[in-house]
Amino acid sequence: MTTPTPRPPGHARPSRPAVPLGVWPVAQTTAQYQRAGRYLPACTDHPAKMLPELARRIVAEYSTPGALVVDVMAGIATTVAEAALLDRRAVGVELEPRWAQLAEANLDHMLDPARRSLAEVRLGDARRLGDVLGDLEGTVDLVCTSPPYACDVGNMDKTRWGSGGDLCPSTARNYSTDRANLGHARGVAYEAAMTDVYAGCHALLRPGGVLVTVTKHTRRGGRTLDLAGLTSELARGVGFAYLGHVVALHAAVRDGDLVARPSFWQTTQVRKARQRGEPAHLVVHEDVLVFRKGTADAH
Ligand SMILES: C[S@@+](CC[C@H](N)C(=O)[O-])C[C@H]1O[C@@H](n2cnc3c(N)ncnc32)[C@H](O)[C@@H]1O
Repeated sequence: MTTPTPRPPGHARPSRPAVPLGVWPVAQTTAQYQRAGRYLPACTDHPAKMLPELARRIVAEYSTPGALVVDVMAGIATTVAEAALLDRRAVGVELEPRWAQLAEANLDHMLDPARRSLAEVRLGDARRLGDVLGDLEGTVDLVCTSPPYACDVGNMDKTRWGSGGDLCPSTARNYSTDRANLGHARGVAYEAAMTDVYAGCHALLRPGGVLVTVTKHTRRGGRTLDLAGLTSELARGVGFAYLGHVVALHAAVRDGDLVARPSFWQTTQVRKARQRGEPAHLVVHEDVLVFRKGTADAH
């Protein structure tokens, strides 16, 4: 065990009040099991869906029945569907017509007529929320969203891969070839775009409303990208107060052990990294960050 090197005077870590930390075991059953018989089978085409149990838990924890819940990057509408099932009004925004249409079809499939009337997905760009959700400005109780992770996951072609081809053709990466899709944004471009998105979320929320983000650490060239840290900086930069951090476990807790539930893509990426000599491990959690509008940040 190594002893940490003492920091030289004047280089002490700034003392910050602790943010409450929680752990949610949201993958006690697999993603496929959580969606089976509920979600449209075609939803498997979307490469980066939120776990239904995680969406359900966020909505249940940070809003009440009758509340207005928004997901500004809705994908196949997991948040919207789970919110409507919990008797919230729910509105999603999605850039890609393909996913927006699938999301609407999924809502038709999942919800009874009364709940279906609570839910909608609008086609639009989350960087310009005023254009697509202007009618909701200042009225939203909860924004729950999971931004693209600046990673290359896309639709996988296992048959092609089995015969020596690329598992994920470049045309299928980053959700689409549309450069407006934030799956393409990297570095400062990603930061600038997500600043616009979080500023738009701030304008949407009522005073005291809550923003919850779900992100997962990713890797570039063997280095981990701390997307949670970056997200917290960006959200605080547009005026949010940082309230808490929940670790959403993507591993099942079994007899005191964690049993990882990696996707096929994650497993192959970690294997490749190890073959390159990078000491990669599976990331088995997502970071759920909770922010509030209108209260001074404790940090
Ligand atoms: C991580 S996925 C969210 C998945 C979603 N939570 C679900 O369960 O299906 C991110 C989504 O953001 C969408 N997206 C990317 N850029 C966007 C933008 N500028 N405006 C709106 N949506 C965007 C992507 O097309 C993708 O569907």
